[in-house]
Amino acid sequence: MKVLANDGISQSGIDALTAAGFEVNTTNVAQEQLINYINENDISVLLVRSATKARKDLIDACPNLKIIGRGGVGMDNIDVEYAREKGLKVINTPAASSSSVAELVFGHLYGGVRFLHDANRNMPLEGETKFKVLKKNYAKGSELRGKTIGIIGFGRIGREVAKIALGAGMKVIYNDAYIDEADVTVDFFDGQSVSFHFESQPMAEVLSESDFISLHVPAQKDYIIGAPEFDQMKEGAAIVNASRGGVVDEVALIAALESGKISFAGLDVFENEPTPAIKVLMNGRVSLSPHIGAATNEAQDRIGTELATQIISILK
Ligand SMILES: NC(=O)c1ccc[n+]([C@@H]2O[C@H](COP(=O)([O-])OP(=O)(O)OC[C@H]3O[C@@H](n4cnc5c(N)ncnc54)[C@H](O)[C@@H]3O)[C@@H](O)[C@H]2O)c1
Repeated sequence: MKVLANDGISQSGIDALTAAGFEVNTTNVAQEQLINYINENDISVLLVRSATKARKDLIDACPNLKIIGRGGVGMDNIDVEYAREKGLKVINTPAASSSSVAELVFGHLYGGVRFLHDANRNMPLEGETKFKVLKKNYAKGSELRGKTIGIIGFGRIGREVAKIALGAGMKVIYNDAYIDEADVTVDFFDGQSVSFHFESQPMAEVLSESDFISLHVPAQKDYIIGAPEFDQMKEGAAIVNASRGGVVDEVALIAALESGKISFAGLDVFENEPTPAIKVLMNGRVSLSPHIGAATNEAQDRIGTELATQIISILK
């Protein structure tokens, strides 16, 4: 049987599928040629990431397709319900990138408390001529150890963030609209593990008690963090958003950064992707990354092997 991984798949995924007797094709077929290509090449499994779309027209026009697989979480580019009504299996890999996103959160946090985002902007410009000035500017760093992180959204990624925070000696509190309590187990390299029990706290408490706030909620209709929420935060708190653009009101964020209410923000996602607001990009108190939370080799490997495992169990 043939698998078309139209947006690519890791070598580990190709190897697992090939070993199970599948033929894996990684040609990137243009969207408008995809229906013909699938039918002419007798493709049974279409794998996509976020670029390729699998809409009703494709589902109707490709009767031999058995599985549509999304490497990653969001399936906005697939007409999932319609495909399932037509008897196709639709699969994804929601947990494969959770720890990658969580590590990126700590990249922003550890960088932020030592001003690395700003130092990396200014050292190339002034490091040679104003070294001592810069040294003084970035002298008042702080540590994460002993501080409180408030996690908003305690699902897969939120709990991975909690694990790293616990390992780093932080106090963890969370708010989740649907998960009232949760256990988190931190595993160590030598086989030891320690479990922690948490209960969701009201949003107002999480906002007012946290030194750092990290958001891990799905896309929402309204902002989760806007001007009223920034007002409730501690003076000098920091915020990281590696969930979805549109969860944080960027106008209110810039105001909170400019007033000093918030000391820094780490953003991996933006309201207006792929053309984020210049005011956000140019603010020296924002640590920036271009929506790369899931983009690690390890996550891509896990995505590939998880897709392969699911495909094999469905079709073999
Ligand atoms: N930056 C990246 O590259 C990247 C990569 C993967 C996922 N994500 C995003 O990260 C987010 C979290 O992913 P996940 O896998 O942890 O999802 P998840 O579904 O496992 O967890 C989300 C949690 O948010 C909670 N929640 C929903 N609405 C809420 C609200 N209004 N207030 C408080 N809690 C609320 C849910 O109950 C759930 O427990 C998603 O938006 C996803 O798109 C980003």
